Amino acid sequence: MYVAVMGYGTVGSGVVEVLSKNHDSIVKRSLQDSLDLKYILDKRVFKGDPNEDKFTTEFDDILNDDSVKIVVETMGGLHPAFEFTSALLKAGKSVVTSNKELVAAKGYELLELAKEHNTNFLFEASVGGGIPIIRPISQCLAANEIDEIAGILNGTTNFILTMMIEKNMAFDDALRLAQENGFAERDPSADIEGHDACRKICILASLCFGKHVYPESVHTEGITGITLEDVAYVHDFGAVIKLLGCAKRMENDKISAFVEPAIVKNGSQLASTSDVFNAILVRGNAIGDVVFYGKGAGKLPTASAVVADVIDCAKHTERRKALGWEQSEDNYIVDYRTIAAPFYVRAAVENKEAAQEAIASTMGEVQYLHRDNAPETELAFVVGTQTEEVLSKALESIEGLKVLSTLRVTDY
Ligand code: HSE
Repeated sequence: MYVAVMGYGTVGSGVVEVLSKNHDSIVKRSLQDSLDLKYILDKRVFKGDPNEDKFTTEFDDILNDDSVKIVVETMGGLHPAFEFTSALLKAGKSVVTSNKELVAAKGYELLELAKEHNTNFLFEASVGGGIPIIRPISQCLAANEIDEIAGILNGTTNFILTMMIEKNMAFDDALRLAQENGFAERDPSADIEGHDACRKICILASLCFGKHVYPESVHTEGITGITLEDVAYVHDFGAVIKLLGCAKRMENDKISAFVEPAIVKNGSQLASTSDVFNAILVRGNAIGDVVFYGKGAGKLPTASAVVADVIDCAKHTERRKALGWEQSEDNYIVDYRTIAAPFYVRAAVENKEAAQEAIASTMGEVQYLHRDNAPETELAFVVGTQTEEVLSKALESIEGLKVLSTLRVTDY
């Protein structure tokens, strides 16, 4: 049986490396007589590459070759990845992808195509890199109703926040260090503005709750507004700031889903997830909380997940794996501003005492937080459980108070 790889970037070249390095055990585990690489699709020239003879620039070479049964899509981006994947599935080939943008935007359509043509579309590597999460949710936790899922889904932003928290490093310096270390996406705005995490929570929420969650319907906030002042106040609260992707089952067959920097209390497994590591907490109605932790990015960890899917496809040539979800209706996601939680607030005030009196009369008891060298005109506090809608109105009503940041306090 033959395999083709489309896109010879970081992940694609990792896939080729793992397929070659672990060739014999991969063949054995795939229950095939052979499992060999036949083509690598890439526009670029890789002179002297050990697989130089396998390169093609023609997608049709792969599409029209009946001996190629499994195709790995590691090109990234939506186009032409979507058109190529659709054509391959229609031709009855299995497709394995690490492309979260593709699955988050087109997962429903592609899974339907796979069903129609009795083939497989697998995407373990699209969330959490090398961390097993798609298969555990769809198989090992299949006995549960999943109530909630929350994750640190982006390594770059977790690295930046870790540098801010542990080394008191400014945001820009931490981003530069992440880029130097090669974690960040080519365009780091996908990381720091939260879009990468958004795509991943969309995939997880689609899988957990059974209907496609589109990125446009998920409120997404990145970490560019987080300052060392917030980090210091949150430390006083016994907690840390993490960029979380969250999704929860709500009433009337609806869900909540959002990506935002949020407060996680020290002692929780998500709080102790540092550097480029990812962690995904799944809350099931039989298992309770379970956390998946590991390297969420990188060449070989991600290739490890892709090649496991290739093996799974090779084992399921005659039979489709049951994996998929339904189309969703327009108002499937509830407004994130109606999800109640305690909130952290940092504000500039004209008169501290007057502001504190107004806060007490509009919001009741709050917990004030401390940081060293705070100016007299700054207040930071945590308010009790309420919706963001109610909180914003209360804060707006206080004269002389300007909100500098608000963050949700989580219970993960
Ligand atoms: N830039 C991403 C991250 C890569 O930092 O997590 C994996 O999706």
